[in-house]
Amino acid sequence: MKAMVLDRFGGPEVLHLAEIERPVATQGQVVVQVGYASVNPADWKSREGWLAQYFQYQFPFVVGFDAAGVVAEVGEGVTGLNVGDRVVTPGNQGLGERGSYAEYVRSAAERVIPLPDSVTLQQAATLPTAGMTAWKAVLDLGQAGPGKRVVVNGGAGGTGSFAVQLAKMAGAEVAATCSPRNFDYVRALGADHVIDYRAGGVVEAIRAWAPDGVDLIVDTVGQGTFVDTIETLKRGGIICPIGTLIADETPYDPARAAAAEVTVIPTVSDFESQPRQLAGLVEALAAGRIRAPEITVMPLDQAGEAQRLVAAGHVRGKILLEINPTLER
Ligand SMILES: NC(=O)c1ccc[n+]([C@@H]2O[C@H](COP(=O)([O-])OP(=O)(O)OC[C@H]3O[C@@H](n4cnc5c(N)ncnc54)[C@H](OP(=O)(O)O)[C@@H]3O)[C@@H](O)[C@H]2O)c1
Repeated sequence: MKAMVLDRFGGPEVLHLAEIERPVATQGQVVVQVGYASVNPADWKSREGWLAQYFQYQFPFVVGFDAAGVVAEVGEGVTGLNVGDRVVTPGNQGLGERGSYAEYVRSAAERVIPLPDSVTLQQAATLPTAGMTAWKAVLDLGQAGPGKRVVVNGGAGGTGSFAVQLAKMAGAEVAATCSPRNFDYVRALGADHVIDYRAGGVVEAIRAWAPDGVDLIVDTVGQGTFVDTIETLKRGGIICPIGTLIADETPYDPARAAAAEVTVIPTVSDFESQPRQLAGLVEALAAGRIRAPEITVMPLDQAGEAQRLVAAGHVRGKILLEINPTLER
């Protein structure tokens, strides 16, 4: 099969198209023929070797967590999935297996979620990493709900696009930061209020929007951009900083959080919750309660350029790599 592989860690130039063997569906596993793979910041970090703390890389390595496509093979013991089913999966890359920038990817069966006809493969490919992480922050940890006020830092990105929508789906009032060119996009996702982080005065802007304080902050940007917002939370409020893997990441000050009586919950997507969250996202998308983020499609052999754009930090919505568009009926 064709895949974008890397034989060593490095910049986007280490990614190259190669023929490698197709994965095989062993016990409890499914092989998915990939229509679209999405590009996440974790992919360029993985390409540079940042995920070595979680698994041992085997070269040639294939990055990519998210895939939407069609079941090509089911292993022994797999029930409820059949060859030809349209599915979405976060794959097994987080366990150190080859990822989704390839014609085929292997995934544990419980991580393969069937798609209703109304959900396209492109829409589905946006869901796993960004959507599951937003689900964890907003719904599982953040307990967003009616009457609550939620602030999303980075509302125009992949994770932010889902965080804004999931908070609205839960019935909360939502404000989000973004640059002015993304105001209309973030409002269209459902945000009640947008804040231009480039203009400065973010803390004052949050206070003006929520004079009684906010209940939840979901910080998808990190890098110290939001550490001064602690005191905009109500007592008992929650901050979910999404893990960026940046070694010298600026943490929220525990003493300030304690003084303000708020809880900081570092948020990283976890394997156990992913199937439930992904199934919830597919259902919400099919029911029209959320929609896919803005999608930009690029060919598989442009994966290096796609990662360069993501690493620059200002992609709106999601970039997808097109691998086999004929799977989209
Ligand atoms: N550990 C995990 O489980 C996990 C899972 C998912 C994501 N993450 C991490 O979460 C982070 C975000 O991921 P992502 O997929 O959402 O990234 P992304 O889609 O690439 O985010 C890009 C967005 O960030 C916005 N942005 C950049 N600087 C900003 C700032 N100072 N204030 C507000 N918005 C800003 C940009 O909007 P403008 O153009 O308007 O500036 C752009 O739309 C990454 O570090 C990623 O690795 C971790």
